[in-house]
Amino acid sequence: ATPQRLAGKHVLVTAGPTHEPIDPVRYLANRSSGRQGFAIADALARLGAKVTLVSGPVSLPTPPGVERTDVETAQEMANAVAAALPADAAIMVAAVADWRVDAAGQKLKKANAPTSLALTENPDILAMLGKSPRRPALLVGFAAETEKVIEHATAKRAAKGADWIVANDVSGDVMGGDANSIHLVSADGVESWERLDKREVARRLADRIADAL
Ligand code: C5P
Repeated sequence: ATPQRLAGKHVLVTAGPTHEPIDPVRYLANRSSGRQGFAIADALARLGAKVTLVSGPVSLPTPPGVERTDVETAQEMANAVAAALPADAAIMVAAVADWRVDAAGQKLKKANAPTSLALTENPDILAMLGKSPRRPALLVGFAAETEKVIEHATAKRAAKGADWIVANDVSGDVMGGDANSIHLVSADGVESWERLDKREVARRLADRIADAL
């Protein structure tokens, strides 16, 4: 049996995209299958952690033993994360939409197409946790980048007040795929992992989280 290295620890995981409605039938979103976040929630639960998974709209089954809250928008995700505190660690894997739209109450008609969408910035959930008096002892963010991956991730770690940034090179076929190519950016520097199955990335990350807590 797997040693229960995270027994008694509460870990919060966000996963999937958020959907920001434009009208009742249309939305803005980032591309995200939720697979990496769900695999991380699964791996943490297997180590005995109490896992709260706050998920945007995805079509994935809930991993065994994981407590799941489904949300649609970034604002709902921020509220669900706040409600789930305190936590020993938070792993923010969600691809949160950076902006929301002032949604129309009725379906927009093709003949009356708006010529532009007014965008309002969404709350940055990771950065909020980074500054919060209830900040989890270990705060981990993800960074999907297509270029200058380590440079951008290092800047993001500082800007968001995270302990680790898992930098994800999405220049290839990572989106929705099985494999992931990541660099772990921490106070100790950068560790680059070989291209691994998302489940293996999750297992290794869960082990590292158990080492840290
Ligand atoms: O700034 P960027 O979106 O690239 O940062 C990615 C990291 O920040 C991820 O960990 C993501 O879950 C988190 N994030 C968030 N809330 C946002 C935007 C990003 O928690 N509004």
